[in-house]
Amino acid sequence: MVTLLENPLRVGLQQDRIPEPQILVIFGASGDLTQRKLVPAIYQMKRERRLPPELTIVGVARRDWSHDFFREHMREGVEEFGGGIGAPAIWDDFARGLYYCPGDIDNPESYQKLKIFLSELDTQRGTRGNRVFYLSVAPKFFGEAVQQLGAAKMIEDPRKQRLVIEKPFGRDIGSAQILNRVVRQVCNEEQIYRIDHYLGKETVQNLMVFRFANAIFEPLWNRQFVDHVQITVAETVGLEGRAGYYETSGALRDMVQNHLMQLFCLTAMEPPNSLEADSIRNEKVKILQASRLADLENLDFSAIRGQYTAGWMKGKQVPAYRSEEGAAPGSTTPTYAALKLQIDNWRWKGVPFYLRTGKRMPKRMSEIAIQFREVPFLMFQSAAKQANPNVLALRIQPDEGISMRFEVKTPGTSLRTRSVDMDFRYATAFGQANTDAYSRLLIDCMLGDQTLFTRGDEVEASWRILTPLLEVWDAPAAPEAISLYEAGTWGPVESELLLNRDNRNWRRL
Ligand code: BG6
Repeated sequence: MVTLLENPLRVGLQQDRIPEPQILVIFGASGDLTQRKLVPAIYQMKRERRLPPELTIVGVARRDWSHDFFREHMREGVEEFGGGIGAPAIWDDFARGLYYCPGDIDNPESYQKLKIFLSELDTQRGTRGNRVFYLSVAPKFFGEAVQQLGAAKMIEDPRKQRLVIEKPFGRDIGSAQILNRVVRQVCNEEQIYRIDHYLGKETVQNLMVFRFANAIFEPLWNRQFVDHVQITVAETVGLEGRAGYYETSGALRDMVQNHLMQLFCLTAMEPPNSLEADSIRNEKVKILQASRLADLENLDFSAIRGQYTAGWMKGKQVPAYRSEEGAAPGSTTPTYAALKLQIDNWRWKGVPFYLRTGKRMPKRMSEIAIQFREVPFLMFQSAAKQANPNVLALRIQPDEGISMRFEVKTPGTSLRTRSVDMDFRYATAFGQANTDAYSRLLIDCMLGDQTLFTRGDEVEASWRILTPLLEVWDAPAAPEAISLYEAGTWGPVESELLLNRDNRNWRRL
């Protein structure tokens, strides 16, 4: 066993240890995230014997639930969204460590009550005052919850108490700075775990291994060889009953500022000095600071927003965003965003990074594609009538893998070429990847490893890039201000223009 006293900055990507006994307190425990993701992820670790037997979970929310009701609700979550409970004895043992404590996020008495309850549990379950407070509440309550925890003196000991904050961290640079200040008044940066579940995905972590454990790619990873980079996170799902949150968020805040920016950073950053959390995070901050929207004078040349209309998905008709329950009939909330970024540094100057994400796309598919420059002169006949550039595609999900496209000679007497793919598939090499992103991140947090969490200056640097866009997209606008795309298609036609203008095209996925 390790102790929470260990300096988290020195831990770095180590996963094979068992965390100290502790209590995970989840605020917003009656919400979807707890039932669908958090508790199933923790239970998976229980089944893999990666948790201390004393681990205790306390759900906090407004509803007047009993411990038993909470346990049953979580069991249903594990059955439906996790891998099932497996051996009943393991579940029973796990369920004995689940508790529920009703409380209001803005009521000081609730925190006093919780504090007493937690210290009773320390005695009962041997959790030694170690706590992780997980804020899975609506983002507007993050500041309030942190201040209340501070006022109740529940997060005073940097060696024993940590805070996990869900995304989005702030709504823009100003609010992110304020939230950072609020949080830092209550605890140290070493206690703060700003979560972005994309960093917990195996294939996202593999980006660093791929870049920095192989000698052959890094020499090509720059403006001399790369023509441009495309990062796509396409989803088939729509609003999923989350209008209350999504109407105030939209694609830029929900996906781009966090998940896509993380993929961007890991693709573009310089090699870190080591795997220590701050070493990696320093490089991410540096790349964000060097990045900007491609054309700040003319934002339409830098970004496109879109919203889905009614359409067909897998043979089923799906409603328009504006007809979804809770969405305003004239809403201009973007469900699709495409951006062109430029990086002003020696490695990347002049190489555009195109980012896109959308809901109700034809396929669920996330990938990073590095497109290399064309050969300077083609002496062969190409089946495509022109030279096809080499593309290295890193597939994040599903069908995780890496493929490299290159030209070969087609069989026959003439010297014709055709593109083929050299393909690596995780599933073929290793079987199905089984570590869930939340499992990975929760255990890292319990171990005090901040490597896969976002630092305060990083989150601000990412908001800074998007600020010019947020100012325009947030302004009240007529419903026509947003480009529409039919559900089940690859986004508005204007998104094609973003690349066509540069004589490029989005990849067909
Ligand atoms: C969440 C967003 O952070 O990520 C959701 O709030 C989105 O809107 C989800 O659907 C996508 O995550 P994943 O892991 O399914 O790609």
